Amino acid sequence: MLKNDPHIGSPRNRVDGPSKVTGTAKYAAEFEAPDLAYGYVVSSSVARGRISRIDAGDAEAVPGVLKVFTHENRPRTAWFSHNYQDEVAPPGKPFRPLYDNEIQYSGQPVALVVADDFETARYAASLVRVDYEAEPHETDLRVVRAKAYVPPKKRSGITPPPKPRGDAMKAYSEAPVRIWGEYAIATEHHNPMEPHATTVVWQGDGKITVHDKIQGALNTQGYVANVFGLSKDDVRVISPFIGGAFGSGLRPQYQLFLAVMAALDLERSVRVELTRDQMFTFVHRPETINTVGLGANPDGTLLALKHEAVAVTSRFEDYQEVVVNWSSLLYHADNVELTYKIAQVDTYTPGDMRAPGAPLGTFAVESAMDELAYATGIDPVQLRLRNYTERDENENKAYTSKELRACYQVGAERFGWSKRSAEPRSMREGRELIGWGMATGVWEAQMNKTSARAVLTIDGKLEVATATADIGTGTYTILTQIGADALGLPMENVTALLADSALPKSPVEGGSWTAASAGTAVDAACRIVREQLLAYAQKMDGSPLADAMIDQVTFTNGSMVLTADPSRSVTLVAAMKAGGVDRIEAQETVSPSKINQQSYSAYTHSAVFAEVRVDEELGVVRVTRIVNAVAAGRILNPKTARSQILGGVVWGISMALHEETFTDHNLGRFMNHNFAEYHVPVNADIHDIDVIFVDEHDDKASPIGVKGLGEIGIVGTAAAVANAIYHATGKRIRDLPITIDKILAAQE
Ligand code: MOS
Repeated sequence: MLKNDPHIGSPRNRVDGPSKVTGTAKYAAEFEAPDLAYGYVVSSSVARGRISRIDAGDAEAVPGVLKVFTHENRPRTAWFSHNYQDEVAPPGKPFRPLYDNEIQYSGQPVALVVADDFETARYAASLVRVDYEAEPHETDLRVVRAKAYVPPKKRSGITPPPKPRGDAMKAYSEAPVRIWGEYAIATEHHNPMEPHATTVVWQGDGKITVHDKIQGALNTQGYVANVFGLSKDDVRVISPFIGGAFGSGLRPQYQLFLAVMAALDLERSVRVELTRDQMFTFVHRPETINTVGLGANPDGTLLALKHEAVAVTSRFEDYQEVVVNWSSLLYHADNVELTYKIAQVDTYTPGDMRAPGAPLGTFAVESAMDELAYATGIDPVQLRLRNYTERDENENKAYTSKELRACYQVGAERFGWSKRSAEPRSMREGRELIGWGMATGVWEAQMNKTSARAVLTIDGKLEVATATADIGTGTYTILTQIGADALGLPMENVTALLADSALPKSPVEGGSWTAASAGTAVDAACRIVREQLLAYAQKMDGSPLADAMIDQVTFTNGSMVLTADPSRSVTLVAAMKAGGVDRIEAQETVSPSKINQQSYSAYTHSAVFAEVRVDEELGVVRVTRIVNAVAAGRILNPKTARSQILGGVVWGISMALHEETFTDHNLGRFMNHNFAEYHVPVNADIHDIDVIFVDEHDDKASPIGVKGLGEIGIVGTAAAVANAIYHATGKRIRDLPITIDKILAAQE
């Protein structure tokens, strides 16, 4: 990349900001179509069993109702369950909406009422009568825990725990200092601002355009083509804006199936939008119980590290995430045993939610490390440095880069950690106990195969394009910056196109890999344009750049300039004229370096410091200060990057104190499916959050030096808050969220 890059690394405003705040950005449920019909979903009220009778007569009789779809009259769709397997599906048999009379979970869609308007569809849906033959169900992880199993088939992209090293149980039992605890995290549900929705625009002749809430247009396109037996040419997916997804939009959800089914059957445009309570009828973060055992010397040196996690999955898919591996990525011990198991319950399959698995596993190990710090009398930061890993000992590889030491140091300094008084309950102000706690965060730095296109036109405008999404992370903005710097153009001259199945191929936006992947692809496509421009410039008679190599030229202010002698330059327009072209188009596909992947492990890291104030009589916790120091390689845009960490920290505070989906195990149903009872933080819950990016040079994680940072902000935050609560109160609560009742009931 160029030396004089004025946009990359600078805090730039979001290029999609104006369209978002003025309301011109269109979300899935906002696309219009002539003659649009509206679908409303009827959901199952039992968790397991069969539909014995379904009577849609009253609903169909309502004026304006076009059709009520049920398993009895649905159009034919693919027979084999593998046709329903989307790009990121875990192993198993994906749920097939309206497939037959079997009920697999409470809230499962059992009918779709389609009408001329939304209100009619909703009213008619209330008239659909469904009788069930219920069968016994189980939704309690603590009941099925004994039946947990190691997933027989690995989910693609997930690294299973490493083989045991040494003998962890023996070393633990012989260790002078021992910590043993069970750390649980409640079920959480996705509640992005925009509920899931799909608008299918009927184009005639069996062709459809689909606007779907999805993190990858190609995933929706592939799913629809496979399930409905369509050619991909007949399915165009355009979803330019996503009102938050955080993993809930990685897999196509059932409203997509229902909307496409209805549109194809009625030969008419159809929209299906889920309600806020229906957002609780699909993907959620799996309830997880961790068991951690630490054996150490009195000086804090770890001898044994045991971490087991058991998480829920559905009966039909083996959902998996990385929960336990983080422990031994962070800390060295000669004796390590990590286990990850899943147990089936009668709910929909859990799914990815921001940094899937990592905040759960780090809550456990970072709480246990905090307990070890108190047991040994060693400062929590010092304890972590004492057991620091220089290599990825799970895979026996070097890191592409790891500036975690700097995160601890810079974070502690900014926070004022050295002024901490070590004893629990030793800091107070008025009726509030003050607690300072810290924890470590770690997340994968991945890059994935991605294609991008760059088109430069003679008016000096550049368009860069790839099919991936911008789920709010700032992808439009960073790709615009990369394109602008690659060709020395102002950002206003550059347009980024995303989230369209007709664009060059890209994986879903997820896993924090998009900046590294799409960024590298756009950079590579622009490089071809640069080379072409130079070739044209060299065709000019007496070209000032006649003997220049591409790396000797700087692209700036709409010109190519010889870096060593800026008096020698050619404008881009002049070069294109010399080449006799009015546009240059290039497409490039980039893949991660196989050699680097084989030899190195790539992770981002963070150190999170938290201050809480706990009202001693009421048990009310305020998280008054967070400092999150992040090492994530090159930061393309400190402004959008900071927003990502802020969002992650807020979510981490939420995980620590607020979020919890309650299940009525008798009904097998999530009960608090609304914002009155499912708590997320509001402004009053959030105080000071300080984000620091430490310098981290990385030339191996991705060619552009980027490691990604959409997810690292949540990791470690809940643990830091829990540790601060212990420091304030002397009460160790190993069960998230840490609600007032738990604080009041806990013993010191
Ligand atoms: Mo992320 S949980 O891969 O959207």
